[in-house]
Amino acid sequence: MPFTPAPWPRKLRSQHWYGGTSRDTIYHRGWLKNQGYPDDLFDGRPVIGILNTWSELTPCNGHLNELAEKVKAGIWEAGGFPLEVPVFSASENTFRPTAMMFRNLAAMAVEEAMRGQPIDGAVLMVGCDKTTPSLLMAAASTDIPSIVVSGGPMLNGWWRGKPVGAGTHLWQFSEAVKAGEMSQYEFLEAEAAVTRSAGSCNTMGTASTMASMAEALGMALSGNAAIPAVDARRRVMAQLTGRRIVQMVKDDLKPSDVMTREAFENAIRTNAAIGGSTNAVIHILAIAGRVGIDLTLDDWDRLGRDVPTIVNLQPSGKYLMEEFFYAGGLPVVLKRLGEAGILHKDALTVSGTTIWDEIKDVRNWNEDVILPADKALTQSGGVVVLKGNLAPKGAVLKPSAASPHLMKHRGRAVVFEDIDDYKARIEDEALDIDETCIMVLKNCGPKGYPGMSEVGNMGLPPKVLRKGITDMVRISDARMSGTAYGTVVLHTTPEAAAGGPLAVVRSGDMIEIDVQARRIHLDISDEELAARLAQWTPTHEVPASGYAWLHQQHVQGADTGADLDFLRGKRGRDVGRDSH
Ligand code: FES
Repeated sequence: MPFTPAPWPRKLRSQHWYGGTSRDTIYHRGWLKNQGYPDDLFDGRPVIGILNTWSELTPCNGHLNELAEKVKAGIWEAGGFPLEVPVFSASENTFRPTAMMFRNLAAMAVEEAMRGQPIDGAVLMVGCDKTTPSLLMAAASTDIPSIVVSGGPMLNGWWRGKPVGAGTHLWQFSEAVKAGEMSQYEFLEAEAAVTRSAGSCNTMGTASTMASMAEALGMALSGNAAIPAVDARRRVMAQLTGRRIVQMVKDDLKPSDVMTREAFENAIRTNAAIGGSTNAVIHILAIAGRVGIDLTLDDWDRLGRDVPTIVNLQPSGKYLMEEFFYAGGLPVVLKRLGEAGILHKDALTVSGTTIWDEIKDVRNWNEDVILPADKALTQSGGVVVLKGNLAPKGAVLKPSAASPHLMKHRGRAVVFEDIDDYKARIEDEALDIDETCIMVLKNCGPKGYPGMSEVGNMGLPPKVLRKGITDMVRISDARMSGTAYGTVVLHTTPEAAAGGPLAVVRSGDMIEIDVQARRIHLDISDEELAARLAQWTPTHEVPASGYAWLHQQHVQGADTGADLDFLRGKRGRDVGRDSH
């Protein structure tokens, strides 16, 4: 359906606070004027909240306060009234027990910050992994006109003459130290080289994936995902975003107009083409749940299957986000999907036009970074969804980050009951394990951890690493960092802490995975499985109170996005009663 802009001028929701001469409106205007705003700013023009996840403890977003000045400039230029609002910011590299536990808290807080305050539109200033989905979830639930501007990725890291990627190389260096191939001194020297500029992780990790998802969904201006944080064009993007949101408010162009089923299908296929993070599965399902679109894990498998991974970026490939930007960035990938007939070209974007109109004239400037289809990293990109008696509701695996020789594998389970058990035993030379075994980790799902930590790519035992082996099959209900790699089966659902079959796997059981057949199987009889499940009792930690308790009581499975059950859906933008 073509979008029909709302008539303009009309009364906006901010006028419920600032319009008229009642005692209450005088109170609202008067207090805001303590910051030096003249009368005419309250004349009914769009009031834009710049929802800023800047925080010095979210280093990936540490430059967003400067970028916000450019957003403000754009809003002023377009005749809006910008007000910057700090919002909950969860850093992937700092927050404990895991930033993921706070994605939903951030989404809830931002939703109420949007609805409860006098804003007509929102600029979502995001960067680090969880900041993008949490603000998109909030925008979806309020349906207030919103637009994303990302902070942008870091410049390439360089160490000893070679480019190094944030995250990916950290994991590689850590394994090299354990294998005795790298000294601790060298590891320390590499530390600052990996993350040398402002911005988010520069691999196709979760932050870059979610920035790409925002663009593919149509929620950011074309080209937003890849511009480096410190490139002057990132500042231009911020200013243009500020200009654009003012017109979006006038047109009443809402998240639900943009984030349609077609937009989500575009995002899923884009994720396959870029070799994006498995975390996108959870976030996209959660955002869809907020808009009210019935997206499923099966959609991920069906739509991503047979989409070649053409973006040659770490962790699946070679390059980093800087080269992706120079090659043309996400618009080139979207154009390729369009040319292959697997892009919904008519999907509306925040620009007010279709996604195809935005990208149809772009060019690829480096075919070693954005590969021709016949040179793709894998012809079957996307996220594979495995099902079977070990994962009745599904588990995911990223083929482009996995080892081809392990895609069909049968091995003896070596079970770790939780992450502490894993840490206590993995370096024990007496551990009965070799490279043919399958490592199984329990109690790291949304309820079990709680929060679903990124520990699914368990490091291999040192005695296996010393043989030069770099990959083994690993199965868990955890997530994996988007910068990580390996033949890693993640998000096993139902999770162990919810009494899923994963909870009753024992060391010595045989497990089979067959990626081509989408199968994961615990090789015991149905009767044996039923008997074990009947005897199972939970062993995971239960928080006594606080947000961790709320989260554990209400979090849903990874197969639907791990949102809190009472937050799913759209609640709208109704202003509600005045407090005076
Ligand atoms: Fe923030 Fe990677 S840790 S983007």
